Amino acid sequence: MSYKRKDLLGMIDLSKEEINYLLDTAQTFCEINERDVKKVPTLKGRTVINLFFEPSTRTRTSFEIAGKRLSADTVNFSASSSSTTKGETLIDTVQNMEAMSSDVFVVRHAYSGSVKFIAENTDVPVINAGDGLNEHPTQALLDLLTIRQNKGDIKGLEIAIVGDITHSRVARSDIWAMKKLGANVRLFGPPTMLPKHIAPFDCQICKTMEEAVEGADVVMMLRIQRERQGKLLLPSTREYARFFGLTNEKLNFAKKDAIVMHPGPINRGVELMTNIADCNRAVILPQVSNGVAVRMAALYLLGLSKKGGNNEDAS
Ligand code: CP
Repeated sequence: MSYKRKDLLGMIDLSKEEINYLLDTAQTFCEINERDVKKVPTLKGRTVINLFFEPSTRTRTSFEIAGKRLSADTVNFSASSSSTTKGETLIDTVQNMEAMSSDVFVVRHAYSGSVKFIAENTDVPVINAGDGLNEHPTQALLDLLTIRQNKGDIKGLEIAIVGDITHSRVARSDIWAMKKLGANVRLFGPPTMLPKHIAPFDCQICKTMEEAVEGADVVMMLRIQRERQGKLLLPSTREYARFFGLTNEKLNFAKKDAIVMHPGPINRGVELMTNIADCNRAVILPQVSNGVAVRMAALYLLGLSKKGGNNEDAS
């Protein structure tokens, strides 16, 4: 199999076979990341531009590392120090980058749909690094890779996602992908942070934290996305921590070997108590490590496609 699409925009578009192919390709790159010399010549001579119109620690850094490990020339574009501050449009910015013979764009933007809009206006392959509250597909892939490494087959797993579901592009991408791979997904959060039209997600909506976590194989905690909330959606952070934060007591309802996940950045003491964030059931740092492998896979599959290269074998 090969990845035939020009872009990687969202998990909603992908088939189960495409998701598994991306995960299998990422798994092969995990081995390269454990070598002494973590570099292969796969994308030598190709140029990857990271266009970040929103802040990022993990995603931008790991895309840069991923590109460098594949020997691509990686350029970081930061909106705050660019000519967008002088009124240049999004498409003009992208077309100027395309004129410099770029091979892949990695784009993060605050507006849902903006990355698709860019992809429709350029011949360069585009990877969505997070668009508004829509999707964050490489985060879902690194989450699935981490789950697969710890639990094996995703099919039949009980996965609890807890927190600000409405404003989380991570939750959206995870739910689409997890459901396609056959997991049972339960959602829990404040009523003000659960989507109004939740039926299409086909998830179990829980009324208490205990109900969400009971017998779960995976407990994924989400940060409150204050930057995407138009108005205050909770009475106080302390109250949120009490009802929606993960403590040892609540985690005890999950399976004994349940893993705890978080996409980062963590707000310690709010959605996740520090002792849980740092306990041996937490796989938060392995998620970050897998982020490099997943982004190597995405760059590899899209970075070669523009020039008609062979992307059927990652080894
Ligand atoms: N998980 C995630 O997207 O983190 P950053 O915002 O730091 O990239």
